[in-house]
Order: sequence, then C-alpha cells, then structure tokens
Amino acid sequence: MADIIFGLDVGTTKVCALVGEVREGRLQIIGLGLAAARGMRKGMVIDVSDASLALAQAVEQAEQTSGYDLSQAIVSMAGEHISSTNNKGIVAIGRNDAGVAVSDIERALDVAQAIPVPPNRQIVHLIPRNYTIDEHDGVRNPIGMHGFRLEVETHIVTAARPALQNLTSCAGNVGINASEYVLNALASGEAVLDPNEREMGVIVADIGGGTTDIALYMQGKVWHTQVFPIGGYHISNDIAIGLRAPYEVAEQVKIQYGDCRPDKIDANTVFTVEPFGGEKIQVGRQDLAHVIEARVEEIFQHILQDVQRSGYDGLLPAGIVLTGGSAQLRGITEVAERVLNVPARVAQPQNLVGMVDKLHSPAYATSVGLLNWAMSDNQIYQPRTHNREWGRKMGSILKALLPG
Ligand SMILES: Nc1ncnc2c1ncn2[C@@H]1O[C@H](COP(=O)(O)OP(=O)(O)OP(=O)(O)O)[C@@H](O)[C@H]1O
Ligand SMILES: [Mg+2]
Repeated sequence: MADIIFGLDVGTTKVCALVGEVREGRLQIIGLGLAAARGMRKGMVIDVSDASLALAQAVEQAEQTSGYDLSQAIVSMAGEHISSTNNKGIVAIGRNDAGVAVSDIERALDVAQAIPVPPNRQIVHLIPRNYTIDEHDGVRNPIGMHGFRLEVETHIVTAARPALQNLTSCAGNVGINASEYVLNALASGEAVLDPNEREMGVIVADIGGGTTDIALYMQGKVWHTQVFPIGGYHISNDIAIGLRAPYEVAEQVKIQYGDCRPDKIDANTVFTVEPFGGEKIQVGRQDLAHVIEARVEEIFQHILQDVQRSGYDGLLPAGIVLTGGSAQLRGITEVAERVLNVPARVAQPQNLVGMVDKLHSPAYATSVGLLNWAMSDNQIYQPRTHNREWGRKMGSILKALLPG
C-alpha cells in the first residue's frame, strides 16, 4: 500500500502544490501544480480571496496530474510574525528498571513548552535539540537510559495566530485542510542537507521572493531558526528605482544581466532598457551589479548578526547552503563567503523521482522539502497544544527506536 502526501508551498511569488506517493520509504512525485502567487506579501497573506485563487489554480493542477482528490496538506509558513526561542524541560525519571520511557520524554517536552505564549500566538514547532541525563550531556536517544533526572533542550517556533488563520482560510476555500505548518527553512533543510552537514554544523538559507528563511543545524538537530522579510522582490525593486523602470522590467534585467560581483564585471559591458515613458537607455552591467551586491550583502549581514545573537558560538564547518529562487543570482556564494566567512554552496532538491523536470531548481527546495518532512522520522514533534495526533505520532516514532 502506498501513502499519498500533499505539500502546499505558498510563497510570495509562486504557489507550488506537490503530490507524493510513498512506497516502501521511497518518494515519487505524482502530481504537480504551479501558479503565480497572488495576495501575498513578505511571506504572508494580505488578501484572502486573491491568495485563494492562486491556491485553487495550483491545487486543481495537482489534482488533475495526480488523479487524486486532495483534502489535506502540509503547508509552508514564513513571515515576520514568526519567532523562535529555546527552552529546557527537566523532570525526574520514572522509577522502573527499563530506564527512560516515552512518558518521561513526553513530560519533559510538556515542561519545555510551558513558555508564556500570548493568546494571539501559537507554538508551531517544538523541536528537541539535546537531552541530558543527570550530568551526561549530548544524549542522542534517551529511551532506555538509566538515571534520575532527564533534561530536554528544545527549539520552539511560534507564529501569530491570525497569520496562520489566514493561510488556513485560503486552503479551506479550496477544500484543503492545512493539517500541519512547516517553516520554509526547515522544509528546505529536509530537501537539501545531508546528515553529515547537519552533524558538523550548517546553515540553510532559503532566499525566496519576499523572505529569507534560515535554519541552523548542529549535531544533527535544529539549533536556531529565523525569518527575515527581505528577498528577491527587494532586489528587483532596488533595480526598478535605480532605472526608473517598471518592476517587471527590473525583474527581467536582474535575471538576464544580474550579478553580485561588480569587481568581476567588465566596466564597458552595457544593456538596453526602456524606463518609464522614456527613450531606451544604456546601462552598465557593473552599475547593476553594485545595486544587487548591496542588497545581497545586507541579507547576509542580517544572517550574520542573527546567528551571533542566537548565542551560537561554534564553527560552521559545513558552511551555508543557499536555496530559494534568489539563490540563482550569479556570484551569490562569493558574497555569502565574504560576509559570513564560511563555505557556501547553492543547492536544489536531489534524487527526485516522478514528475520532476521543473523541480530541479533551488526555488523548489521548500516545496519538495514539505514532502520530505512528512516522511521524516527525525524526532521533530508537533506541540501537543496544536495537534492532538502528537502523542500518537511521537509514541510510534519512539516505539520504533525501542529494542524488541
Ligand atoms: N535566475 C535568477 N536569478 C536571480 N533571481 C531569480 C532567478 N530566478 C528567480 N529569481 C528570483 O527568485 C525569487 C522567487 O524565489 P522563490 O520561488 O523561492 O520565492 P517564493 O517561494 O515565492 O517566496 P518566499 O519563499 O520568499 O515567500 C524572485 O524574486 C525571483 O526574482
Ligand atoms: Mg519560498
């Protein structure tokens, strides 16, 4: 029997609906729907009826191509309203001979998620990132370990309820129940990072149209996440202002002639554009590169400052992995390496099977990652308050880890 999973990546510039069939742990993409986004700004819905129209188009295509009636989806999430924090939960380990039990971990996670959350916000992700038993730090899987005191360190992502409700309404308008929300960067991380990178220390940065989303992994676990409301839209907007040209012209100029390395561009190379209501003018590619470089540098400066603020003081041997449509900017890895002083690479979803021609691009890392997320058993749990399936899901994951 195959499982059918459905991911809905609602971006600022595009909506991507992917249907996956999972057979014996292998994913095949059997349905694909794509539509230009509408009613979105900086990762958030600003017009429910407009956004619903774009969703309807993508969902309908996904249904037609897959032949399935879709009713439930894992949905991507971004926007300035998202924030994250870390918290610990400490409990006494239950007295029995079998060591730490599932119920002990559940209690520790319950304690960890007891942070003050205002009524207009909700916990979306509760991710255990480290266990300590008595004095022993860095325990990977505490089940069956002996001790007196269990401590779990968690990474907690919260979101504004109204922002999620708007997304839920859009999905609901097209007959889809949003069963789970996944932060863009965490979905992209699932699609492009390998276990060694997560183990050594790595950042995934999804630079999309309206947002840049980052997740920092260390020792195999999510250490930190952040969303910045800047992306490719802002780069094109800077170009539009500089050229006094319509946004669409700037967007095309960026893709065709853009580069982030003015020092590598011959000062004599020019291209022609038609500004607002004027004669065609010639513009130097080096001038264009200066505009792009400034904005891209700003994005990486935000990432640098945020990582420093997060309290992470380790090295990032696996560097930064760039996804999202804007990761296709020429020379972007060089700017990332210069600002962050770590190795950088651009990544796209790998090992895809099925209807995948269009998906071989960094722009689809989040979309594919939603399906990878649905399949993963990497001990990332849904908070109890948000999803009543949580206990059962975690129970089944942990049962799989138990001996016998
Ligand atoms: N070849 C290219 N060079 C530079 N930028 C590009 C290229 N192709 C696409 N982009 C930019 O990528 C952006 C769209 O990326 P993506 O599809 O990842 O965004 P999104 O998922 O819709 O938005 P978000 O995740 O930010 O809400 C646009 O700003 C577009 O200009
Ligand atoms: Mg995106």
